[in-house]
Amino acid sequence: VNKRRFLKQVSFLGAGVPFAMLQLDQVLAAAAHMPDDELADDESFWSEIRAGYRLKPDYVNLENGYYCFMPEVILDRYIDHVREVNYQGSWYLRTTQYDEKKATAARLAEMAGCRSDELIITRNTTESMGLVISGHDWRPGDEAVMAEQDYGAMLNHFDLMARRHGVVNRIVSVPNHPKNDAEIVDLYAAAITDKTRLLMVCHMINLTGQVLPVRKICDMAHSKGVPVLVDGAHAFAHLQFSIKDLNCDFYGTSLHKWLSVPLGAGFLYVNRNKVKKIWPLLANEKRPVDDIYRLSHVGTGPVHVDIAINDAIEYHRRLGGARKEARLRYLQNYWTKKARLITGVSVNTPEDPARHGAIGNVGVDQYAPSDLAKILLEDHKIWTVAIDQAGVRGVRITPNIYTTPTDLDALIRALTLLAEN
Ligand SMILES: Cc1ncc(COP(=O)(O)O)c(C=O)c1O
Repeated sequence: VNKRRFLKQVSFLGAGVPFAMLQLDQVLAAAAHMPDDELADDESFWSEIRAGYRLKPDYVNLENGYYCFMPEVILDRYIDHVREVNYQGSWYLRTTQYDEKKATAARLAEMAGCRSDELIITRNTTESMGLVISGHDWRPGDEAVMAEQDYGAMLNHFDLMARRHGVVNRIVSVPNHPKNDAEIVDLYAAAITDKTRLLMVCHMINLTGQVLPVRKICDMAHSKGVPVLVDGAHAFAHLQFSIKDLNCDFYGTSLHKWLSVPLGAGFLYVNRNKVKKIWPLLANEKRPVDDIYRLSHVGTGPVHVDIAINDAIEYHRRLGGARKEARLRYLQNYWTKKARLITGVSVNTPEDPARHGAIGNVGVDQYAPSDLAKILLEDHKIWTVAIDQAGVRGVRITPNIYTTPTDLDALIRALTLLAEN
């Protein structure tokens, strides 16, 4: 079958199954009998998945945390959507756009484990979190709780609320290697006062990849009457979880990180009892106060990105979330267990599997993080990102499903050499 012709024949908006998706099915069918943990180190299976990506030969990319580019099958579909929207013009925008976007949001809601009237598509985590932080009805002297390990843009946004509305921000510090969940929950609990109106917590800290006990933090905060906003930028389509099980009030994530959607997509979950408490950032037409779509007016946007979310969901569904998580954990353990044994090297991510996913952070004691990242790139052809803040000194290592143990062996060789010098 000619792939291009085949793609042209399939109908618009994900109704058909592209050839490459069918090829993926064949690879998956051959491995269907294998449990996820056994398949996690089956390199012949994962090399087929890797073959579906176009990879730059210049370096080993261990920086998929900012953005994980798409496998070709999603990219091809996305390009088809760009062409089709360009062909349909305002016809698509006036007739189908909103229904399609709602249907896509409903698919995301099903995947995230919440109701479809509790989730809207946004451009990214920054927008999702900002809608809640800015939309809160702040009064002077109100307090908010967060951690210095939270993402910079979120801390900046709370700082804006401090300057604009007189909010008092109470900032805790999460240890890189906590003893247990209680230590973290107690840290947040100690910062809550009778003036606390919102608590923000990362599902997975971007600096180290540490997973926080979100459910326990939410239960504790709720027992004190405080709602919780979760920054899930790195958790969705990476870890298996359900928003309902987290028991949070608000959850923001990006889809261009772990779901491999084209750049510029995220979602915001708002518990349906909390929708009416948030002011929209951009005024929408008059909708009931408990309608989440009150919060999502952004004007005309890149609708082809929203359409491509369906293709990425389909890819994820076929591959299997649990299978993906098992592989990602295998890759993280593959290199961290070796790195933990090298003298002069510090792994800044907890060893306990409940406290990490694919991301790890590693430092070589005698190197500043920026120098380490530079040497890794220039001398060893390994692309990472330096982290030097909030008690974390190292480079962040973020593989994805196309990463091989051979890629990670190159990292271990480089760390060993640098620590010896
Ligand atoms: C924890 C966390 N929150 C928020 C963001 C912002 O994501 P985006 O730029 O997609 O809005 C990031 C980006 O890396 C992040 O790591």
